[in-house]
Amino acid sequence: MSRSKFTEYKQAARNFWVPEPHFTEKDYPDLTGKTYVITGGHSGVGLEATKLLIGKGAKVIIVGRNKEKAQDVLKELPDGKFDFAEADLADLTTISTAGDYITKNYPEIHGVILNAGVMTPPYSKTAQGHELQWGTNVVGHQAIMKYLTPIVIKTAKTSPPGTVRLVWVSSSAVVISGLPGGINFDDINYEKEENPSPHVLYSQSKIGNAYQAYLWSKNHPDSGVISVSVDPGNLKSNLQRHSSEFLKKAFNYVLYPAQYGAYTELAALLAPDVHDGEHLIPWGVPGHLRWDVDEGRKGEKGEHLWKKLEGDVKDFVKESYP
Ligand SMILES: NC(=O)c1ccc[n+]([C@@H]2O[C@H](COP(=O)([O-])OP(=O)(O)OC[C@H]3O[C@@H](n4cnc5c(N)ncnc54)[C@H](OP(=O)(O)O)[C@@H]3O)[C@@H](O)[C@H]2O)c1
Repeated sequence: MSRSKFTEYKQAARNFWVPEPHFTEKDYPDLTGKTYVITGGHSGVGLEATKLLIGKGAKVIIVGRNKEKAQDVLKELPDGKFDFAEADLADLTTISTAGDYITKNYPEIHGVILNAGVMTPPYSKTAQGHELQWGTNVVGHQAIMKYLTPIVIKTAKTSPPGTVRLVWVSSSAVVISGLPGGINFDDINYEKEENPSPHVLYSQSKIGNAYQAYLWSKNHPDSGVISVSVDPGNLKSNLQRHSSEFLKKAFNYVLYPAQYGAYTELAALLAPDVHDGEHLIPWGVPGHLRWDVDEGRKGEKGEHLWKKLEGDVKDFVKESYP
């Protein structure tokens, strides 16, 4: 095994035994008057992040696919401290409703956590024909960011430097896909392969999120917004719903409470000394992104992916958005 592969696997193994978090609610600043968007902010890690931000006075706009189904969770949150914008990331025709709603009602957004995700479902496709994990985790987030981008850039112009941030939620699963650069550019939807591994497809989508973190900044130079990727950790949540009973049982003993994942995401969102393009690992410390993924996103592969994603979403975003 090469030295870089060894580093990557060692880092993934660290997720099973992580030192206590160094940046938690006791360290967060007062967030009164600030507004954040969290996709999937009503479940698992996203819900814990929502609660922590609200606890510090912020307002959180949750982007989710079904407000009615989220009611049990939402009624536990304090009135006036959250909002819900409905969008199914697996159907790009639904994104503009949420995008327009946020744009009309929220002139300032101080940070976005691109957190929603689906892991290892049976192979299927989104409404627009993207493989489900890629379509939801990557393409759906590209689309919603078309609406949020002008607002975060505007907010950054009037905010203290380095405080407006985008957090793209990746995973230690980036080690699974063995392709150089991590993305199967010849067949992103894995249509040519019979029974593609759902784990490889999940890995590819989480690599896609790490590309997006870097590429968003590259394509919005001088925005004043910090854009980072995170591996939130190995956490108890609803994410394992498609895993086998064996895996669920085996992992149950080694997963951390979802709140720890929120500590990772919120360190990326709020901690001082977080730098554009950085990749953070549990519970919010600087980490190492798989070297060929990092190299890929900074080179031609990254350029190609950004063009492709922008092309994928352009018909679903109103022309007035950049
Ligand atoms: N848990 C872990 O160990 C772990 C490890 C590494 C990375 N992550 C990443 O952490 C993030 C949060 O996951 P979690 O563990 O908190 O899982 P979770 O409890 O299942 O939360 C995922 C959220 O994504 C939403 N979502 C899924 N498909 C969607 C769609 N088509 N449109 C809109 N929203 C959709 C879900 O909404 P519904 O309630 O409607 O399904 C839910 O709110 C994910 O990006 C995941 O890949 C988690």
